[in-house]
Amino acid sequence: MSLDAKKIRQDFTILDQIVNDEPLVYLDNAATTQKPQVVLDALTAYYHEDNANVHRGVHTLAERATAKYEASREKARAFINAKSTKEVLFTRGTTTGLNWVAKFAEQILQEDDQVLISIMEHHSNIIPWQEACRKTGAQLVYVYLKDGQLDMADLQAKLTDKTKFVSLAQVSNVLGCINPVKEIAELAHEKGAYMVVDGAQSAPHMAIDVQDLDCDFFTLSGHKMLAPTGIGVLYGKEEVLNLMNPVEFGGEMIDFVYEQEATWKELPWKFEAGTPNIAGAIGLGAALDYLSQIGMDAIHTYEQELVAYVLPKLQAIEGLTVYGPQDPSQHAGVIAFNIDGLHPHDVATALDYEGVAVRAGHHCAQPLINHLGISSAARASFYIYNTKEDCDKLVEAIIKTKEFFNGTL
Ligand SMILES: Cc1ncc(COP(=O)(O)O)c(C=O)c1O
Repeated sequence: MSLDAKKIRQDFTILDQIVNDEPLVYLDNAATTQKPQVVLDALTAYYHEDNANVHRGVHTLAERATAKYEASREKARAFINAKSTKEVLFTRGTTTGLNWVAKFAEQILQEDDQVLISIMEHHSNIIPWQEACRKTGAQLVYVYLKDGQLDMADLQAKLTDKTKFVSLAQVSNVLGCINPVKEIAELAHEKGAYMVVDGAQSAPHMAIDVQDLDCDFFTLSGHKMLAPTGIGVLYGKEEVLNLMNPVEFGGEMIDFVYEQEATWKELPWKFEAGTPNIAGAIGLGAALDYLSQIGMDAIHTYEQELVAYVLPKLQAIEGLTVYGPQDPSQHAGVIAFNIDGLHPHDVATALDYEGVAVRAGHHCAQPLINHLGISSAARASFYIYNTKEDCDKLVEAIIKTKEFFNGTL
């Protein structure tokens, strides 16, 4: 095993609890992850020692708060290997980031232009584009699936000179497939389109290098990678962000304000109107330090080991369908499944009786769920503190659930 999950667990006291008379097995990490003690400590230290507004004050606390806030931006820059902190915008999360990019698209899109997304996208990477297309008369075009993954031939057929934006998840929050966004960025650029990567499910689990991916935009959500809720990052190439108008207006983002007009601060601050989530950004910085200390390659390898262990066990359960790629080496640590004859909500409730926390529903991906011909699915998703014992408990609890509902228990 490439990392010591049992040691890591000690940093997450929330995991050490009994739920429904069973030790908690937390497998809802694609929804949100737990927070290690260092992140909680960073939040407490900020509020105990440094709390002040950023950028405006000259007093000592304001300077300390600003220094910590901007230090987190540098940590985020390094984490995704952006060229400069000018390219790192703090947001509320992936949803905000994608909304901002779609607003930029409204500056550019014209009637008959196209935006290319895939059927596996999260609603956050669908609805902002629906709105941008509705307002501009552009067309929203979908790439479909082959063998539970993105159909690259379909993508290539639909990527044309009309395509102005390609926006795709790097890892699907339902199918668990890993999309070749680097290769797709190259194809998009050949057609003169911008490449947007939804990194909500990839940045927590693998090394990200936005320069190597050569994407124009990349989004992530802090809460899916050990940080608090309400903080995220939108990366944009500096030259592209310079073309982009601010989405929100008000204090903090201005340089000079006259009665009828105003000028904006330089990047990245022109996008950050109002008092930001200072504590959240500081918590994100602590989370990124923690992840970097473990190593993103080690995390990716470890999760692939867990998937290689648990996926065949799940596939072997009679009547259980796993969605997405069937080959463990192509499947990230997000496993959506259904059991013949059982409603996924009943499955999730029964698993909770066993202390196993999974999610059930449409996973904010209704077009995909419709496309798969189902109404919902259960989903187990793994992170650095999950162990093979957790995998065994999941499998055992599913078998018990099946037996219970079949009346054989
Ligand atoms: C692939 C994907 N994109 C976007 C989002 C939205 O993230 P947030 O709710 O943190 O903005 C999620 C959240 O589950 C996701 O899985």
